[in-house]
Amino acid sequence: MDKLIVEGGTKLRGEVTVSGSKNACLPILAACLMTNEESVIHGVPRLVDIIRLSRLLGELGVKVQRDENDPFTLRVQVEDESKHLARYDLVRQMRASICVMGPLVAKRGKALISQPGGCAIGDRPIDLHLQGLRAMGAQYRLTRGGNISLRAGRLKGRELFLGGPFGSSVLATANVMSAACLAKEVTVIESAACEPEIVDLADFLNKMGARISGQGSPRIRIEGVRRLGGAEHTLIPDRIEAGTFMIAAGMTRGEVTIKNCQLDHMMAVTANLRLVGVTVEKISGGGHGKAGAVVVKTGRKLRAIDVTTQPYPGFPTDLQAQLLAMLCLADGNSVVTDKVFPDRFMHVGELGRMGAQLRKQGPAVVVCGVKKLVGAPVMASDLRASAALVLAGLVAEGTTEVRRVYHIDRGYQRIEEKLNALGARIQRVTE
Ligand code: UD1
Repeated sequence: MDKLIVEGGTKLRGEVTVSGSKNACLPILAACLMTNEESVIHGVPRLVDIIRLSRLLGELGVKVQRDENDPFTLRVQVEDESKHLARYDLVRQMRASICVMGPLVAKRGKALISQPGGCAIGDRPIDLHLQGLRAMGAQYRLTRGGNISLRAGRLKGRELFLGGPFGSSVLATANVMSAACLAKEVTVIESAACEPEIVDLADFLNKMGARISGQGSPRIRIEGVRRLGGAEHTLIPDRIEAGTFMIAAGMTRGEVTIKNCQLDHMMAVTANLRLVGVTVEKISGGGHGKAGAVVVKTGRKLRAIDVTTQPYPGFPTDLQAQLLAMLCLADGNSVVTDKVFPDRFMHVGELGRMGAQLRKQGPAVVVCGVKKLVGAPVMASDLRASAALVLAGLVAEGTTEVRRVYHIDRGYQRIEEKLNALGARIQRVTE
């Protein structure tokens, strides 16, 4: 098992390029189940989660191959449509495997998916996914071994409400929107997730021949079609990776140019970072389409703020841990509330081991800013919490050992290499 050894005390300086979005990539790869033609996806990061989903797709008869000439391009082609089992071993390792459910049931008429179960960021139900597919005519039941078996003829479009107790659901929207593309008639999803990754998925599906409108708003309309074809697509930049680098630059009082950064996906992030005292400035060049380069720096003291995570366009829960690490060093008291995953605070205890003063109260954490953090051995508990611990290690006095970094490899492509290129001193050690 690998660990990262982080030497604290360097200011990050230089340029870094953001990879394609992991969370856009996963449902897009799953959507390829719905055509027999080849699809080509560009800008695919080399991440454990993507390898895992590719493996699952392989078991479902889909060939997923890296392009010989471009390691960031995947070619995806269905070869065998007779399979429909998503095994526990694979689903357990990555909850996002659930995104094959909608495409499978829409195209193959059946799906047998192991229930994902809970995970380190709290109880994560799939009731909205099932509710949406059932409304379109799929029948489901729990089978022996904890699998959910879904069956359907051709799904039928209808108007459905997909809001849950914590607001919209990203992957439930992805599943229902994808499945609705092959359904009879029109589906309208009310309280749909508005995340840029949903817009990217809808754009990809439309290239495949789907008829989706309203993506990016809470009301998505899908006119079903008989068949979908292959498509070629470039993923949007990963806004969570970009936000992590912004926070790293701000925390270390460095100056970093972040390329392939799509600022219009990050309004809540940049607004809150500016309140903390971090400058984020767009400069020309450094990306395709709407993506570009931004310079991030901070010279002054960091200010305390109150921030609440919410579904997009609110502040993303996937950057909560990293922001919280930064606020440990701010001047004054901050309150960080997670309204998307109220239990997502496993990093609080570990940051406390580094000298942070934090008090959890229900879905919120009160952060009392301290002058310094000290290096310590800490344990990563989930993907974004691990990133927060690495960032804390960058500013701590002495050495921080972050164990269980397999979590971080799920969502950041060799984070230590990108940070070291900015002047960090991080070593990966295999125990
Ligand atoms: C996606 C992201 C994840 C991010 C999360 C919230 C991917 C691969 N993962 O996860 O990184 O942290 O969005 O932005 O895109 N809920 C229900 N019932 C359901 C489904 C969800 O109550 O059937 C609840 C969840 O418990 C949570 C909230 O809805 O409180 C939002 O979760 P959701 O948007 O579904 O997260 P994911 O799509 O799994």
